[in-house]
Amino acid sequence: EHGLHAPAYPWPHNGIFSSYDHASIRRGHQVYQQVCAACHSMSQVAYRDLIGVAYTEDEVKALAEEVEVEDGPNDEGEMFSRPGKPSDYLPKPYANEQAARFANGGAYPPDLSLITKARHDGQNYVFALLTGYREPPAGVHVREGLHYNPYFPGGAIAMPKMLNDGGVEYDDGTPATESQMAKDVTTFLAWAAEPEHDERKLMGIKWMFVIALVYLQAVYYKRWKWAPIK
Ligand code: HEM
Repeated sequence: EHGLHAPAYPWPHNGIFSSYDHASIRRGHQVYQQVCAACHSMSQVAYRDLIGVAYTEDEVKALAEEVEVEDGPNDEGEMFSRPGKPSDYLPKPYANEQAARFANGGAYPPDLSLITKARHDGQNYVFALLTGYREPPAGVHVREGLHYNPYFPGGAIAMPKMLNDGGVEYDDGTPATESQMAKDVTTFLAWAAEPEHDERKLMGIKWMFVIALVYLQAVYYKRWKWAPIK
């Protein structure tokens, strides 16, 4: 059964000339880190990917250093742990899928690296899902351990409502309302799934400019060449 279709939200980066809202990507990373990372990995994103996107290089170094990373084997063949580096990938909350399911009543929190691409109408879906928890309508029974959410296919999801007003501490002082956090984390996830988005649109603008020049040149040349013949 399909879930309720998500509304089309006015994402600031939707316009053909629009880039991501990078302050929102930064806040969205803070939501991911403080809330979602407890259960969801983002195994395709490295700390260094955030440099110049959401944080400065020094900020990223500091973020990476906060985590312990298993490394090795060293020259003696031993594994060891060390502070994270920008080249490390974001840490995973569970050792493997079995551990993840065990901690989540049998359900598997999917890796979020590509989630806005993996789900139909991904960014609208994720926003609608995160803000879509409500009381089940009369007559609808939701099994113990599941939560009613009309946007989730089947209507009952193992993930509880995660975003509540004040749930995170934003470093830019933006009030962390439920919808603000949902918007920011979705923007962060959209960026993660499509990091080339801004570059792609900028290249599009440059190409359109060059093609316009070539076109004008061609019209001029054609007229000049044909003028004595006609
Ligand atoms: C599923 C996002 C936090 C546990 C999902 C899905 C998304 C998502 C997009 C996929 C739904 C689908 O399959 O279509 C997020 C975001 C979070 C967050 C953005 C932070 C704001 C958490 C946390 C937990 C959790 C903290 C654990 C306490 C789960 C589980 C599922 C899931 C178990 C699988 C649900 C099922 O198959 O019934 N989440 N999540 N999530 N999430 Fe989260």
